[in-house]
Amino acid sequence: MSKKLVKRYYSKESIKEWKRLIQDPYQKLEFDTTFYFLKKYLPRKGLILDAGGGPGRYTIELAKLGYEVILLDLTPELLEIAKGQIKRAKVQNKVKQIIEGSMDNLSMFRNNTFDGVICLGGALSHIIEKRQREKTMDELIRVAKRNTPIFISVIGRLAVLTTELLRFPEEIGTKVLRKLEILEIILEDMVLLLVIFFYPKN
Ligand SMILES: C[S@@+](CC[C@H](N)C(=O)[O-])C[C@H]1O[C@@H](n2cnc3c(N)ncnc32)[C@H](O)[C@@H]1O
Repeated sequence: MSKKLVKRYYSKESIKEWKRLIQDPYQKLEFDTTFYFLKKYLPRKGLILDAGGGPGRYTIELAKLGYEVILLDLTPELLEIAKGQIKRAKVQNKVKQIIEGSMDNLSMFRNNTFDGVICLGGALSHIIEKRQREKTMDELIRVAKRNTPIFISVIGRLAVLTTELLRFPEEIGTKVLRKLEILEIILEDMVLLLVIFFYPKN
């Protein structure tokens, strides 16, 4: 169910998702900070898996640095954008594969394949069921070579506050907000998305 919702949401929001990380200084801060740590901790070269990489912003920047990258995402519309942008950036020779698939099943890859694995922009927060999330993390670890860095970003609990302030200000101070862990975001055109907000202990 949640995969269906994710696909539906991002197919409607595909252009917005491509622009997301550069649309304002706040979002750009996410990109710059994340990229700073990628550059710091990734090995100098090698094959990187961009799982849940969407329209490919990180794939393209890593390819420009000389990495070989495989991009995998659930949403075909985002991968179409990625194809165009990869061509535009002239890094087709570095992007080895673009795969439509779900990161909880990476059976197309052998154990210890990648020199680095990234799963950014809160992609894991779209996997609502705990067991499926754990399976995803097992898969990300399995396909990474030993001692290789794996970067996973999630939507943190504090993001409830900004999301609520922007989208549901009427709920501030209510019991709903205090109990909230999984948020249903309903957009104007009734496209529903579920996201899970992580506590540090998660
Ligand atoms: C906010 S976007 C982040 C895209 C990219 N990682 C970035 O940081 O720019 C979240 C992405 O997660 C993808 N996604 C969600 N669930 C997924 C799953 N089970 N397998 C693969 N991709 C998934 C969505 O299609 C979407 O592209």
